[in-house]
Amino acid sequence: MAGLLQGQRVIVAACGSIAAVKTPLLVSALIKEGAQVRCVVTSSGSQLVSPVALACLSRNPCLQDADQWDPSRPRPLHIELAEWADLLIVAPLSASSLARWVHGDGQGLLASLLLACECPVLAASAMNTAMWQHPAVQRNWSRLHDDPRVLPLAPQAGLLACDRVGTGRMADPECIVLAAASTMLQADSEGKLRSDWRGKRVLVSAGPTREPLDSVRLISNRSSGRMGVLLAQAARFRGADVDLVHGPLTVPDAWLEGLHCLPAFSSAAMEVCLLERQSRADAVLMCAAVADVRRERSDNSSKLPKGELMETMAQGWEQVPDLLQSLGARRSSQQHLLGFAALAGDDETLLRRGREKLQAKGCDLLMVNPVDRPDQGLDSDLNGGWLLGPGEREEAIPAVHKLALAHDLLDRLSQLGD
Ligand SMILES: Cc1cc2nc3c(=O)[nH]c(=O)nc-3n(C[C@H](O)[C@H](O)[C@H](O)COP(=O)(O)O)c2cc1C
Repeated sequence: MAGLLQGQRVIVAACGSIAAVKTPLLVSALIKEGAQVRCVVTSSGSQLVSPVALACLSRNPCLQDADQWDPSRPRPLHIELAEWADLLIVAPLSASSLARWVHGDGQGLLASLLLACECPVLAASAMNTAMWQHPAVQRNWSRLHDDPRVLPLAPQAGLLACDRVGTGRMADPECIVLAAASTMLQADSEGKLRSDWRGKRVLVSAGPTREPLDSVRLISNRSSGRMGVLLAQAARFRGADVDLVHGPLTVPDAWLEGLHCLPAFSSAAMEVCLLERQSRADAVLMCAAVADVRRERSDNSSKLPKGELMETMAQGWEQVPDLLQSLGARRSSQQHLLGFAALAGDDETLLRRGREKLQAKGCDLLMVNPVDRPDQGLDSDLNGGWLLGPGEREEAIPAVHKLALAHDLLDRLSQLGD
């Protein structure tokens, strides 16, 4: 499969923050996703990360302030770079580069590049907690949100290099790669990013559930949670405040950054968690693969002996209440509801069963995804199938990366209006 950033021209810039030690990992991950990468490092940044390492990993010279004044260059370097790039990622962005940027100060290669760039810019800040909380830094950071070409990735909480535990860690390189791919999907021809979900509260469910049989055994399914987590991140990158109710996930931990995560591993826990939060949400995206059956009662304090297993399991099952239907019955007319249905069979069967489900569950849109086709659906990077709704509308959706499908589904939900 082609990488998420195949053929995209990306500049990665590192400022003078200790988080610059992670910039080589970011460059490497971008290359693996198919991007062409050129690196820029500020003079302070070059004290903390090796320009030689960045040059090797990006397969291009690492550019520094002195290169701007190289008399053999026929055109100003910051202009040439700005015209070359599809995306500029500043990771880490220091407090002083942030200040220069928002005040329009073009002193230095990165500073002048930031002013000359017309492509989208991803800014991942990192600094000590007290610095981050300083009103001047917060003021500068909030001004980035007014620029439609900029996707600001706020620092995360954790143990910092200064030994303080607090907010200040740079977003994980794996999350920055995801944000970079999302940025390319969100950008219009002028490099402006769609932020149509800004101010909206979105409730997303993702992953399988686990239904206990005894203290060690359980029934579950092959859902990885990728589709739901990518929907949640796509909504977050478009400005939404996202609650993610999830079962056991098989996705990188970094993909959960910036989401309000609510683990709920059984169908019963997921039901409580979703119904409790539903009324606060502008949209509910029900992507979790909830079990269909569970034990009426399970003794979770001990393990059934092997010899008793067949006999005990021959009875005592109940159907799990249909969660999408419950959400559909309780939603207000303003709340949008997207459901997923994992179905098997030919297109005719999928459409027939999908139509019945759309009718029964009361959602605006139902994404019917086949689970019996190679390289798509459950536990895969790709997804496609049929999108049913609103009303009688039906559309075949070719298998695409789940992040691209997530943005497509968010576009369609946005088009339903408020
Ligand atoms: C070891 C060390 C670590 C630093 N870490 C940070 C940091 O995480 N974030 C930050 O904003 N500044 C940090 N600074 C301060 C910046 O390096 C300093 O403000 C510098 O002027 C930034 O310049 P630049 O934005 O051109 O890279 C650090 C300085 C040192 C010496």
